[in-house]
Amino acid sequence: MLVWEDDVSLPSTTPAQAKPAEPALAVQAPASAQPSPPQAGSGLQAAAAAYPATQASSASAPLAARSAQSADARRVTAADKRIINGQTDVNQLVPFKYKWAWEKYLATCANHWMPQEVNMSRDIALWKDPNGLTEDERRVIKRNLGFFVTADSLAANNITLGTYRHITAPECRQFLLRQAFEEAIHTHAYQYIVESLGLDEGEIFNAYHEVSSIREKDEFLIPFIDAIMDPNFKTGTPEADQTLLRSIIVFACLMEGLFFYVGFTQILALGRQNKMTGAAEQYQYILRDESMHCNFGIDLINQLKLENPHLWTAEFKDEINGLFLKAVDLEYRYAEDTMPRGVLGLNASMFKGYLRYIANRRATQIGLDPLFPNEENPFPWMSEMIDLKKERNFFETRVIEYQSGGALSWD
Ligand SMILES: [Fe+2]
Ligand SMILES: [Fe+2]
Repeated sequence: MLVWEDDVSLPSTTPAQAKPAEPALAVQAPASAQPSPPQAGSGLQAAAAAYPATQASSASAPLAARSAQSADARRVTAADKRIINGQTDVNQLVPFKYKWAWEKYLATCANHWMPQEVNMSRDIALWKDPNGLTEDERRVIKRNLGFFVTADSLAANNITLGTYRHITAPECRQFLLRQAFEEAIHTHAYQYIVESLGLDEGEIFNAYHEVSSIREKDEFLIPFIDAIMDPNFKTGTPEADQTLLRSIIVFACLMEGLFFYVGFTQILALGRQNKMTGAAEQYQYILRDESMHCNFGIDLINQLKLENPHLWTAEFKDEINGLFLKAVDLEYRYAEDTMPRGVLGLNASMFKGYLRYIANRRATQIGLDPLFPNEENPFPWMSEMIDLKKERNFFETRVIEYQSGGALSWD
């Protein structure tokens, strides 16, 4: 049985509980962030970095040499763990502290799926039928894939080369590893759709260079990814820790939590009209994964804030509000570009309300005030899609249920 030491689970549905007390400006960094603490990294280097400076040299020494050390000095205590700037060994997953992260890791594993399990034959027939889809519907599909085929690679890079290196809570690192694999599955799924339909791969995979409404979204994101991927970037000062927090907010709340939603809604709307049902099935599984990534990111943000309240200044919140407004504007421009006329019963102006509704939700989830009071969800059916259960197959195209190792034969 698992025993949770010092459980600090933060349900994302109750953001008010997670909102830290309003910090005074220019508060001293807490003891855990001083003096410039070591960084989490990989392998034994990480173990060395994660030890207090006085022990770092012995932590990187061979195990035999270290065995003479006091065992107590090397044992991890849950209470000492921190989301960032922690001084405990990142290689020791237990004792658990961040139960919410471990539970989300288990939940994502239970949702495992692979793109090839979805039958694409009806999509292929529809795409090849000259009368199967309107030109506007084909534009939506190509623009949509044009954003997503590279977006999840950006996401994977951000996690593995950025966020993962700076997070010192092993439970959260475990989730990020699973998340990185899911981003690879998503890139695979989009590639699989492009290949199945016989689309021009050069056109689709270069859209993030060549289509301005897609390029603008990526150009908005990339500085926040680059900042934490920089090999010289280290947390440990209030400014650097704000850079990391800002990047996590942009990534979880604005990329995964907002920039994906026009695209998801469009393809799922096609599926609801019995068109492109294989692609819609894939997007439905991806939406479920992304919803979990977004919720994990929000819990991570709120825990990081609780442990580092000095980062959440009025100035920082103003800056985040500005980024939310910019992201809503960029995603709305993408909606207009993909839907210059009404299509599928959708039009760009409906998305203005939807994006504002989502932005309000993301803002309140991390303890900000709603940016657009009184917006309502114009697509309530999207909530049903997010709540997909593993055994339920909304578009009925999936031919097999994933069985974890259950079908292996050694004969
Ligand atoms: Fe993804
Ligand atoms: Fe994701």
